[in-house]
Amino acid sequence: MIIRAATDADVDDIMKIERTPGFEQFFGWFSEGEHRAHLIDPDCRVLVLVDGDVIEGFAILRGFVSGEGSIRLNRLAARKPGGGSGQQLLDHAKALAFAEPTTHRLWLRVAETNSRARHVYERNGFVLETRLPAGGKSTSGQPVDIALYGLLREVWQFEFA
Ligand SMILES: CC(C)(COP(=O)(O)OP(=O)(O)OC[C@H]1O[C@@H](n2cnc3c(N)ncnc32)[C@H](O)[C@@H]1OP(=O)(O)O)[C@@H](O)C(=O)NCCC(=O)NCCS
Repeated sequence: MIIRAATDADVDDIMKIERTPGFEQFFGWFSEGEHRAHLIDPDCRVLVLVDGDVIEGFAILRGFVSGEGSIRLNRLAARKPGGGSGQQLLDHAKALAFAEPTTHRLWLRVAETNSRARHVYERNGFVLETRLPAGGKSTSGQPVDIALYGLLREVWQFEFA
């Protein structure tokens, strides 16, 4: 398996994973145009984990221009949750974010009910910074309670790099 920057040819597979039945309780959907725009946006990085011809997961980070040292993990999803693909992408995302000398923090929003993802983030040193009741919306427009997590460079560097 390799992790590489996504290309236009990967967008269909990325969208299929993003739209996996059940994932709508965890995050909304980017349109195809938004996904393609991420690929050329200097503020963003889009990673794919590839096994042969199969995209096993993807990650979107943003804030490389606008983040003022805080990079956001904007989306992370595995084609088959529970197999470690998300962890591989997360390792790469952390390394990519902190490879920028100005990055002091990697942060993310996660639905409070997403206990699997929260477990994975906490396992990686992310700390719950705040709760945002009704801070997000489901794809059907329902309010979703959000947990906001952050990972500081010093924690990543000394414990998780
Ligand atoms: C979150 C996600 C990216 C993690 O990637 P992954 O490849 O599944 O992660 P792993 O297989 O390395 O680890 C899964 C862990 O969750 C644990 N887990 C599984 N179900 C769980 C649950 N309901 N509650 C708490 N922990 C759970 C597993 O035991 C495992 O932890 P352990 O290895 O410490 O025992 C992936 O599950 C995914 O794509 N989920 C759906 C989309 C999503 O929620 N994305 C994140 C949005 S912020």
